[in-house]
Amino acid sequence: MSRPSRPGLTNDADVRSLASNTLLRLFDSLYEGAVVVDRTGRITWINDKYKALLGWNGADSIEGRVIEEVIPNSRLRHVMESGRAELLDVFAIGSRQVVVSRIPLQDETGTVIGGLGVILYDRVQALKPIVSKFQQMQADLASAHRELAETRQAKYRFSQMVGVSPRLREVKDQARRAAERDATVLLLGETGTGKELMAHAIHGASQRAGKPLVSLNAAAIPETLLEAELFGVEPGAYTGAGPKSRPGKFQFADGGTLFLDEVGDMPLMLQAKLLRVLQEGEVEPIGSNRLRSIDVRVIAATSRDLKAMVDAGSFRADLYYRLNVLPIRLPSLRERLGDLPVLCETFLEQIAEKAGEPVKSISAEGMARLGAYHWPGNVRELGNILQLAAARHDARLLNAEHFDDLPVTASVAVVAEATREGEVRALREVVAITEKAEIIKALVAARGIKLNAAKLLHISRAQLYEKLAAYGLLSDSPDRKEVV
Ligand SMILES: Nc1ncnc2c1ncn2[C@@H]1O[C@H](COP(=O)(O)OP(=O)(O)OP(=O)(O)O)[C@@H](O)[C@H]1O
Ligand SMILES: [Mg+2]
Repeated sequence: MSRPSRPGLTNDADVRSLASNTLLRLFDSLYEGAVVVDRTGRITWINDKYKALLGWNGADSIEGRVIEEVIPNSRLRHVMESGRAELLDVFAIGSRQVVVSRIPLQDETGTVIGGLGVILYDRVQALKPIVSKFQQMQADLASAHRELAETRQAKYRFSQMVGVSPRLREVKDQARRAAERDATVLLLGETGTGKELMAHAIHGASQRAGKPLVSLNAAAIPETLLEAELFGVEPGAYTGAGPKSRPGKFQFADGGTLFLDEVGDMPLMLQAKLLRVLQEGEVEPIGSNRLRSIDVRVIAATSRDLKAMVDAGSFRADLYYRLNVLPIRLPSLRERLGDLPVLCETFLEQIAEKAGEPVKSISAEGMARLGAYHWPGNVRELGNILQLAAARHDARLLNAEHFDDLPVTASVAVVAEATREGEVRALREVVAITEKAEIIKALVAARGIKLNAAKLLHISRAQLYEKLAAYGLLSDSPDRKEVV
């Protein structure tokens, strides 16, 4: 049963016409600017408000121009092609964000004959919260992008790789040369020797420094996720893969550097895939049958003995040779004990700065004690030990006894030799240093018993004390236990 029409409205056509007139009037009261284009994208009409917003000087006519010439980022052409209106989109005109709608104009047969673009900007009070929310989101997104870009920059430079020993200098030179080239680098060395630091420094000094440095630690990611992390995933690649494609680290690193940390921990199956990517310069995301070409410089690192792994069959020989183009072996701390003093100085300065306390130093006796340890955790362990000692003891001068927990594992003579490295100095200074080193040697050999140390040095105990005082080797620590 149909309802009776209201008086004056006789048929459906009248209702439609009234509705469209009302809509047009409403539209007219809402919009701030409007532009109409024909099917070729040429402007056939534009109102004055829109012209003013565009800053058009009025000298030349806008009508007849192609829309993109006037509004470079216009989406009207896209709307005409798709035939679908875009209602309430936020659009940038110059530095201004406006709310726009884009509507394809169709004839009776449904053929698109043009497009209408209208601006509904901040006169529309109801849209203000949406616009400001959108602007906030855009600002958040921009800052997130900036942050992400920063995290993908090199964090360390060569200057942060502290050390004056010939071994370290040589390695730094090697790395600087590697930075200039674009070949794959393989960083080898025990844990805590500075492989990550070096990878950052190489990227930072390379031509790719402005591009991302993306890291992936093969040991830190479960085997099942590693492939997706590296190469990316296409939608529907597997159950739960999600509706969007997810780029892998290789794609994130495109144009820049990929730091493949702990590459020795990569499963054999992935080693084969990695090799292919390195050889072809193309990645194939999981679930995709399309290869994407990528331009990535790889810096790989491992604390494992890769060559031994190759011999044992747990690392692919072909991948090993592909990675081993520019191998750099970072020396262990025990191989460059000459760097101990400068490393300690740097760490103690950093520790003091963080704690807001005066900088501590280490007596030569204390240094000899540190040098007599074998440092399996290398520079990282040194940093930790110093952090602990600085926190535990109030003394400004850290002595051997402040490092009592460290087992003595190396010959003290080696320590003294190593700490003697450096520039050519005045003879008096060298004599003093030698004397000091011998005293330390004697103290360590005598386990801190000064009478015995004096005997070893063929001097009296009083003379030894004089010299200890002269060289600043007498601790000012109140908790110091005198062993005579
Ligand atoms: N020559 C150096 N000068 C100053 N700091 C260093 C030096 N070498 C290493 N470090 C510091 O020691 C710590 C360990 O370095 P890094 O993480 O680069 O070592 P790694 O070789 O990657 O170790 P792992 O194999 O355990 O991952 C870091 O805090 C780093 O800044
Ligand atoms: Mg590392």
